[in-house]
Amino acid sequence: MKEESRIIHEGRRPEENFGIVNPPVYHASTVLFPTVEAMRNVKTARVGYGRYGTPGTEGFAHAMAALEGADRCTLTPSGLSAITTAMLSFLKSGDHVLMVDTTYEPCRAFCDSLLSDFGVETTYYDPLIGADIADLMRPNTRIVYTESPGSLTFEVQDIPAISKAAKEYKDATQDVVVMIDNTWASPYFFKPFAHGVDVSIQAVTKYVGGHADVMMGTVTCTEKYWKQLHRMRSILGVSVGPDDVYLAQRGLRTLAVRLRQHEKSAMVIAKWLQDQPDIKRVLYPALPDDPGHELWKRDFTGACGLFGIVMEQGTDRQIAAMLDPMKLFGMGYSWGGFESLLIHAPLKTGRTATKWEPGGTFFRIHVGLEDPADLIEDLAAALERYRAAKD
Ligand SMILES: Cc1ncc(COP(=O)(O)O)c(C=O)c1O
Repeated sequence: MKEESRIIHEGRRPEENFGIVNPPVYHASTVLFPTVEAMRNVKTARVGYGRYGTPGTEGFAHAMAALEGADRCTLTPSGLSAITTAMLSFLKSGDHVLMVDTTYEPCRAFCDSLLSDFGVETTYYDPLIGADIADLMRPNTRIVYTESPGSLTFEVQDIPAISKAAKEYKDATQDVVVMIDNTWASPYFFKPFAHGVDVSIQAVTKYVGGHADVMMGTVTCTEKYWKQLHRMRSILGVSVGPDDVYLAQRGLRTLAVRLRQHEKSAMVIAKWLQDQPDIKRVLYPALPDDPGHELWKRDFTGACGLFGIVMEQGTDRQIAAMLDPMKLFGMGYSWGGFESLLIHAPLKTGRTATKWEPGGTFFRIHVGLEDPADLIEDLAAALERYRAAKD
């Protein structure tokens, strides 16, 4: 089956539910067992206790694993909890993590606080390191963590080269788990396991949910790592509510058409922005002159609607004059919903292994599903206000 058809059909079982297209929502904590023996065999039961999920949960998890090319999937209550649950699954005191310098900021905070407090050391590395990641490996390195493209600055990583280097090291000495935050591409535009990754994280909150109304994450993995992931999820009591799973699986079914439209409109707007006088740089790997374009073209099958813009240096007054009156672009955290967003991102915290000097004022844009002509009209007026508010 083609990818678009699999997005529609994976994990649905209408024949088990009176032919109903979407799986029903089961609210459950207690699940009753008919006999003492059945209760003793809870570990092999399809449904045993609410915290471990219900039939609706099962279908969505199955679909996410299948679409990413993984064997298994666990659901978590947010993208961030997917990151922390996944990392904790493979770490103990004395271990070492190689973390990409452009990681999503709360992931950095997790490494620098809780992991550090528990005796796990983190080394940040240049997102463009490629096969040279081998030089940073230590005997106690347990995780090589990637995110591609990187948060805010959108560098594309050479995931096959990094995975290969980690694998060679792993073969020589010990087990090193290669992880990716695959949220930008979603399971539709990048297949992590076909590129050598062992564990993949999705903030379902973004494109899979797709409607700015659900918080959720997934961790998918190969069979080899499932036992450790499942163990940690059980120890931590990670659990997701059935109504949220319902929304997430409903969002998933339209992922392909939404993402293609986000991509199409984002390309129109990125190109338009490149021609505007106040724009110094547009950071979008789908643009042919982006430094990450070749890697992106090699490994990805599309680009989402999220990218960065560097404008001529502006004051706080200019930024407020530009953003406050916007009509279609909202200001808010997160992205991946149907609506357009534009935020100023000061990039004050962040990198420690590399320097990023944007040479101007940085904004992050999420191109939603509105008509691109309307979005350009809104942006053109915004750029005009930015210019006019200059001292
Ligand atoms: C790349 C990336 N990963 C993970 C997350 C965390 O997802 P959530 O907000 O669902 O915790 C985000 C949120 O912005 C993100 O941008």
